[in-house]
Amino acid sequence: MIVLIGFMGAGKTTVGRLLAARLGLPFTDSDEVIERQAGRPILRIFAEDGEPAFRQLEHRVIAGLLAGPDAVLALGGGAASHPLTRSLLGPVCVVYLRVGFAEAMSRVGGDHGRPMLARPGVPALYAERQALYASVATLTVDTDARSPGKIVLDVLASLDSN
Ligand code: S3P
Repeated sequence: MIVLIGFMGAGKTTVGRLLAARLGLPFTDSDEVIERQAGRPILRIFAEDGEPAFRQLEHRVIAGLLAGPDAVLALGGGAASHPLTRSLLGPVCVVYLRVGFAEAMSRVGGDHGRPMLARPGVPALYAERQALYASVATLTVDTDARSPGKIVLDVLASLDSN
């Protein structure tokens, strides 16, 4: 199991799909599973149930996926902020895709489907999450100014030397 974490816009889904293809593993995006299980888009889950309910659902979904067959698994950018989700990641190979704040915003800043971006204090959220990502990362790979294909090569090289 390889788990990808990082802030919104780090490229977890794009890189995850390419990495899974390279490794011959299935790819799963926890946000997609959450939306399927809830029968609603994430924006509506946040609006109707609130963030704590979303984090609980996210935790349950991730626990189920980690107990399932081997895969490349991309987690939502806030998954690592839940202590129980962090503790699930202890024994897992976790790749932290690191992105600078400006680059993250240039990639996803205008996306209205991401409720956390519509809140005030996004720079502070970004800052406080960096230590959380690092605390569960097996590997950290920088993504600024790099194409998804190059990032996949960096991940594969880091996995090899690990
Ligand atoms: C979130 C990130 C999103 C999604 C939800 C909350 C966050 O995933 O899980 O909107 O708190 O950072 P991406 O990182 O794939 O955008």
